Amino acid sequence: MAQSQSSRRDVLRGAAALAAAGSMGSLSRAVAQASGKEPQKLERRRFGSTDMHVGVLGFGGAEIGFEKAEPATVERLLNAALDAGLNLIDTAECYLESEVLIGNAIAQRRRDFYLFTKCGHTSEPPAQGPDWSKTGVLRSIERSLKRLKTDVIDLVHLHSCSLEELKKGECIAGLEQAKKDGKARYVGYSGDSAAARWAILSGHFDSLQTSINICDQECLELTLPLARERKLGVVAKRPIANAAWRYDAQPDNGYHVEYWKRLAELDYEFARGERRADAGPDGAAGVALRFTAMQAGVHVLIVGTTKPERWAQNAALLSAGPLSAELESSIRARWKERAKPEWIGQT
Ligand SMILES: NC(=O)c1ccc[n+]([C@@H]2O[C@H](COP(=O)([O-])OP(=O)(O)OC[C@H]3O[C@@H](n4cnc5c(N)ncnc54)[C@H](OP(=O)(O)O)[C@@H]3O)[C@@H](O)[C@H]2O)c1
Repeated sequence: MAQSQSSRRDVLRGAAALAAAGSMGSLSRAVAQASGKEPQKLERRRFGSTDMHVGVLGFGGAEIGFEKAEPATVERLLNAALDAGLNLIDTAECYLESEVLIGNAIAQRRRDFYLFTKCGHTSEPPAQGPDWSKTGVLRSIERSLKRLKTDVIDLVHLHSCSLEELKKGECIAGLEQAKKDGKARYVGYSGDSAAARWAILSGHFDSLQTSINICDQECLELTLPLARERKLGVVAKRPIANAAWRYDAQPDNGYHVEYWKRLAELDYEFARGERRADAGPDGAAGVALRFTAMQAGVHVLIVGTTKPERWAQNAALLSAGPLSAELESSIRARWKERAKPEWIGQT
C-alpha cells in the first residue's frame, strides 16, 4: 500500500518536472521513466585507474546463490537489468550456485557487462573451505571461468582473507599469475578494516570491495580516502545495509542481525515509521542508497536481490542524485555520536 502510494508520488514528481519545463512531448517519457517502464539514465564512473566505466548501480550475486533463486528468475532479472543499463555483475566462487546461474543466464551477452568474481574458497567437494595458497587461488579462478562460461574475468577479488594471509603473499602471487595468464584483467581485495587498509597500501591491487552504508561507516575515514588517493576502483558491498529497517523484530536471517541492531541504536528519522516502506527517493531505501553512492571515492554499489523488478527500482532511486549536504552530514554526525568501538566493517 505505502509502496503504491509512493510510486504514484514518483510518477507525479517526474511528470511535474517536465511539465514545468514546458516539454509536453517528453512528458509521457518522464511518466514512463518514473514508473520504471523505461530505462533510467544511469550515471557512469571511471573505475579507479582501470579502463572500465561502470554504472553506479551494479548487481551483487550473493542473494541469488544463498536464496537459491530459480534459473528462470535469474534469467529474467539479469536480462531486464542489462536492458535497462546494468553493466557490472559481481559474484563469488563460494556463493553456492550464483556463478552457474549467471553463466547460464547471460554468457551469450558477455560483451554487455563487466564481470567481477571473488576467489579463495574451493567449494567443489570434497575440498571445501578457504585455500589461500597460490595454487588454491588459481584453482578457484579456473572453476569460476568454467562456471561463468567465459575466457576472462574483468576483475577477481581475494574473498576476504585475513591480514596474515595477505602478508604471507601466496594469495597475491596467485592473483598476479592469473593476470599474467590473461584470466583476470584486474585484481582486487574484498574485505574491511585493517586488512583492507594494508591491501590498499601494498600497491598490489587495482580495486577494493568493502562494506559502505548508513550502518557501516568505519571505511569512510579508515580506507576510502586512501583508496581514492591511490586511485583504486571501489566497490561498495552491502550498500543498502541489507535493508535492515524492513524488520519489525530481530530478523531470522542472522546475516542481517548486526545492521538491524546498529540501526535501532542509530535511530535515523528516515528509517522509522512510514518512511521504512516509502519506496521514493526520500524513503529509507532511497536515502540509504544515495548516501552510499555520494561518498567520495565510491564507484559502484552492488545491491543484492532475487527480485526481477528491483534493479530498475533502485536505479530510479539513485537517479535522484546525492542527498542534501545537510542530510548527509546529519547521518555522519549520528554515526560519530553513537557508533561503538566494535562497530567495525562487516564482512
Ligand atoms: N566479503 C565480501 O566480499 C562480501 C560480503 C557481503 C556482500 N558482498 C557482495 O555485496 C553484494 C551486496 O550485499 P548484500 O546482498 O549482502 O547486501 P545489500 O545489497 O545491502 O542488501 C541486499 C538486501 O536488500 C534488499 N533490498 C535491495 N533493494 C531494496 C529496496 N529498494 N528496498 C528494500 N529492500 C531492498 C534485498 O531484498 P530483495 O530480495 O527484496 O530485493 C536484499 O535482501 C552481495 O551480493 C555480494 O556480491 C561481498
